[in-house]
Amino acid sequence: MAIQPESGIVIVGAGCFGLSTAYHLLRRGYTKITVLDRSPVLPAPEAASTDINKIVRSCYADIFYSKLARDAIAKWKNATEWADCYRESGVLVLLTGEGSYGDLALVNDRALGARTVLLPAGSTNTVPSDPSSPALPPVVQNLLQDKSGYINEDSGWVHSSRAVELLIDKVKSLGGNILPGKAVAHLIKDPHGKTNGVKCADESEYKADCVVLAAGAWTASAFPELDLEETCVATAQVVGKIQLTPEEAQAYRANPVYLDLDSGFYMFPPNDQDVVKCAVHAAGFTYRPTSTSASTPIFLKPPNEKDTSHGHFETAVPKAALQELRAGLANTFPALADKPWAGARMCWYTDSADEDWVIGFHPRDPGVMLATAGSGHALKFLPNIGSLVADAMEGKMDAELVRKFALDRAKNDVPVSRPGKEQSELDLSDIVSSE
Ligand SMILES: *[C@@H]1O[C@H](CO)[C@@H](O)[C@H](O)[C@H]1NC(C)=O
Repeated sequence: MAIQPESGIVIVGAGCFGLSTAYHLLRRGYTKITVLDRSPVLPAPEAASTDINKIVRSCYADIFYSKLARDAIAKWKNATEWADCYRESGVLVLLTGEGSYGDLALVNDRALGARTVLLPAGSTNTVPSDPSSPALPPVVQNLLQDKSGYINEDSGWVHSSRAVELLIDKVKSLGGNILPGKAVAHLIKDPHGKTNGVKCADESEYKADCVVLAAGAWTASAFPELDLEETCVATAQVVGKIQLTPEEAQAYRANPVYLDLDSGFYMFPPNDQDVVKCAVHAAGFTYRPTSTSASTPIFLKPPNEKDTSHGHFETAVPKAALQELRAGLANTFPALADKPWAGARMCWYTDSADEDWVIGFHPRDPGVMLATAGSGHALKFLPNIGSLVADAMEGKMDAELVRKFALDRAKNDVPVSRPGKEQSELDLSDIVSSE
C-alpha cells in the first residue's frame, strides 16, 4: 500500500502536519499533491498554529523528540528558508533534581551536545561559579531565587503564523495545489471499503490513492466513523497576551522563554510588537456537544470582536483559566500581574494520552494516512515533521516508530510533560472575553 511519486495525494488540513507533509512529498518528487482546508482564509485564523509564537525547544524527556527538535532547529536557523521566524532566545527549564521532566530533558540535551547552562537556585550570573561572567537578566535572577533550572541556548521560539505562511508559499512554488474553503464532508470509498477520495461540503470530489488526515483539532470529530477519539482528543488551551511599554520590553528583551513543567506555566520574551504571551501547559478543556460526540473545537467571540488578521485571532476564554494565568504571572513576573490583557484566545490541539503523535495508516483503512495528535508540541517540527509522515506513507518508517505512532497502540510508556493533569469539560456559562 506504500505510495509512489505518481500517486495522487489529498491532504486534509493546511496546518503544521498537512503543509509539512505536502512540502516533503513534493521535495521527494511527488507531483499530484492537493491540500484542502475548510478555512476560506489561510493560514486559518482559528488554527492553533496561527499565533504570534510557539516554543522551539529540544528539552524533551524522550530523546527521540530531542533529536528531532535539534534537526528542526538546524533547519529553522536557515534564514534563506525561514527568514527571521526563529528567535534563538534560549529556553529556561526549571529543574527539581528528582528526575522530573526537566531533569530528564537536561540529560538528553547534554547527551546531544546542546549548549546548556546549569543554574542552581540563587544564580545571578550566566556562569554561576564565575561572578565576573555577565549577569543574568534581573527578571531571570528573580525567577531563580529559590529554584534551579537550565537554559538551553540552542532553543527559542518561532513566529508560527509567519512560518505557516512561508510554508504555504513553498508548497505552492513546488507545484502543490492548496485549496481554501474546502470543508471535507466525508471520505469516498472503493467497493472494498478502502478510502480513495473525499467529498467536500460544496459537493466537489477529489480522488486520491491516499488521503492524509491532518485536520488538527477537527480530525476526530470530522470523521467519527474512524473512531479516532480514543487516541486523539481535541482540547483547548488558553493563552493570554500583555502589551508592554517600550521601557518594560527593554527589561524583558534578553529573557529566554520561561518554562516551568511542574506548574505548566510558561512565558515568552517580548515579540517585535513588545507583546508577551503566557499560558499554562496543562490538560486543557474539552467540548462535547452531545454525550456521544467526540470533543470538537468551539470558539466564542469576544463581544467587542477585535482584529482577526494573522496572529491576532481572539476568543472568549474560561474565566478560571484567565485567573490561573494571573496566578502564574504573580508567581513569576509579579510586575506584570496587574497589567490588562491585550488579548486572549483558545488554542485547540489534539492530544494523545502519551503525547506521542499519531502518524500511520488507519488500521482498518489503508487509504487513510493519519497525521495528527500534535499534543501541543508539534509546531516546532514544522520544518521536518512531514518527512516522518512521508516515510510512513512510503513504508520507510522504522518498525519501532510505526508502533510508537500507531493509532491502535497501547499507551506508550514515556515520561509526559503534563503528568496527572485531567481535562475538564468547557463550561460555556463561565466564558468571558477578559477580566
Ligand atoms: C539553506 O537553505 C537554502 C535554500 O533551501 C539551501 O540552498 C542552503 O543550502 C541551506 N543552507 C544550509 C546551511 O543548510
